[in-house]
Amino acid sequence: MLDVVIATGNAHKVEEVRAVLLPRLGARVRLLGLREVGEFPEPPETGATFEENSAIKALAYAGATGLHCLADDSGLEVDALGGRPGVSSSHYCTDGMETGLARAERDRLNNERLLRELRGVPAERRGARFVCVVTLAAPASGTEPARVIAASRGAFEGRIGEPPRVPSGAGGFGYDPLFMVAAEPFAFGVTSSELRAKEKNALSHRGAALRDMTRAIEALLT
Ligand code: IMP
Repeated sequence: MLDVVIATGNAHKVEEVRAVLLPRLGARVRLLGLREVGEFPEPPETGATFEENSAIKALAYAGATGLHCLADDSGLEVDALGGRPGVSSSHYCTDGMETGLARAERDRLNNERLLRELRGVPAERRGARFVCVVTLAAPASGTEPARVIAASRGAFEGRIGEPPRVPSGAGGFGYDPLFMVAAEPFAFGVTSSELRAKEKNALSHRGAALRDMTRAIEALLT
């Protein structure tokens, strides 16, 4: 049995990772939430890309826990905003700065800012995508420091809806209540917050990146 730590403090992400990987890996791997392993300081996400920040987190937590770690870095890219909020998605309301606001409050303020910035922008120019990069890191061994084993990227296409249609939906987190899903059969008719968890995982950036990661985890079992 291999222990792999899901290196995030976001309970929604832990559930999404488990829902995608458990049916694929079954009882051969135990997927542990970070909080089940201990209390660890969050590494500063100083990277300029999702790839860099994902690797920073995977390496930091593999080093701290002594276990294999799976970290994700994700965010929203909005075309009309030149790709913003991007790597600053989680702290967009404070221009990327960590200010100690609770996650729910941050999500609400981030969404308010995004809708404000897109006020008056027509539907055809509200294109957006969620992006996720997942990185798997191995812990230090002997004189070898913790190292990245594999990384994968997924994207989820959509559009930022217009009030009063949005915000809408009770599922997911973050920008989900604003994000109208492009994929058929939804064709911009629902937000990712209105999807069932199973539907979101089948279409989402995180689901795609995690499915690609399955083989790298299986390779550790042989
Ligand atoms: P991270 O925790 O540093 O990866 O930041 C991810 C941020 O991007 C979250 O706080 C959300 O604001 C946004 N985000 C990433 N994935 C999703 C998603 O699946 N739904 C909604 N928002 C997301």
